[in-house]
Amino acid sequence: MKHLIDPTDLTPEETSDIISLAEDIIAHRERYSERCKGRKLATLFYEPSTRTRLSFTAAMMELGGNVLGFADARNTSVSKGETVEDTVRVVGCFADIIAMRHHIEGAPLAASAVSRVPVINAGDGSHSHPTQTLTDLLTIKRELGHLDHLTVGFCGDLKFGRTVHSLIKALSRYEGTRVILIAPDELQLPDYIKHDVCDRCGIEYRECRTMEEVMGELDVLYMTRVQKERFLDEEEFDRLKDSFVLDRAKLSAAKERMAILHPLPRVNEILKEVDADPRAAYFRQVENGKFVRMALICRLLEWRDDPSHGMPERSDTAEAAGCTCSNRNCISNMENVEPRFRRGESGELRCLYCDSKVK
Ligand code: NCD
Repeated sequence: MKHLIDPTDLTPEETSDIISLAEDIIAHRERYSERCKGRKLATLFYEPSTRTRLSFTAAMMELGGNVLGFADARNTSVSKGETVEDTVRVVGCFADIIAMRHHIEGAPLAASAVSRVPVINAGDGSHSHPTQTLTDLLTIKRELGHLDHLTVGFCGDLKFGRTVHSLIKALSRYEGTRVILIAPDELQLPDYIKHDVCDRCGIEYRECRTMEEVMGELDVLYMTRVQKERFLDEEEFDRLKDSFVLDRAKLSAAKERMAILHPLPRVNEILKEVDADPRAAYFRQVENGKFVRMALICRLLEWRDDPSHGMPERSDTAEAAGCTCSNRNCISNMENVEPRFRRGESGELRCLYCDSKVK
């Protein structure tokens, strides 16, 4: 069975198949209106969301299916102490497919291991967000016509921004990708993405401190919000929150066909005056999210019993027996889930659930 926990759970071929299907859905919406008739999607959202949950809901409705679930876990058995694994076992009796957002890193992976229906990670803590990545890929393809040979600038909170982590993983599989990381020291991209993703795939990346110095090189400018809810220190958040603000003046140096993306919600990082610029793709990006989720739901349901669409091997090292993950917000430290590890590019042990180092 195929789950989508990390963007690399889809092969490059499966990824482009989903993007092509989304494009076909856009061109022939009426053909898909009964595709999921009689099927049910459960949305299990343990963390706030507007776009992601509503776009999953709208996607299933447009496919003729039904949706059940919760947007606030406080009203569910979770408040009585039910584990993620048990909740997913229960929900699998009612639904054909599950979309889960969780504040605990690795929760969707733990859920998928016991689920009898496909599980989609709709965002786990500051770790991953693979359906936003499919949305971003479809948007780049529609805005620029191709996904290879792109210079992509990621700006803002690259440390806690899960959409950034997942998109870099996905882009690292396209030829000629160049990544420019625009962030303050405190919000730099996690090491595991730099080493286990960029270095391993031979992706060229460089770090800089201002948008202005690289604006003219970019094909895509990916803006992000500083993730207030992930900071332990409010003063640090206040100091960093307005690190980067995109305005009309800064865009004067940009390419005419650059695409400005943002997973939204935005706070101050893109001024409203930018919205009217033809390069501002972030509201088109939202709509693409619905179409790509329609395509994903169709394929995961079709692939469910097809052995040629299984999950990739997650490497597991026996030497890590007895070790624990260093991340207090990892599912392996929060619930009774067996810790599992892999070897990182520089030989260190990393958690399979959240990619943090071993303690
Ligand atoms: C993002 C998220 O939840 O990670 N939003 C989204 O899914 N569209 C980005 C964010 O919250 O800043």
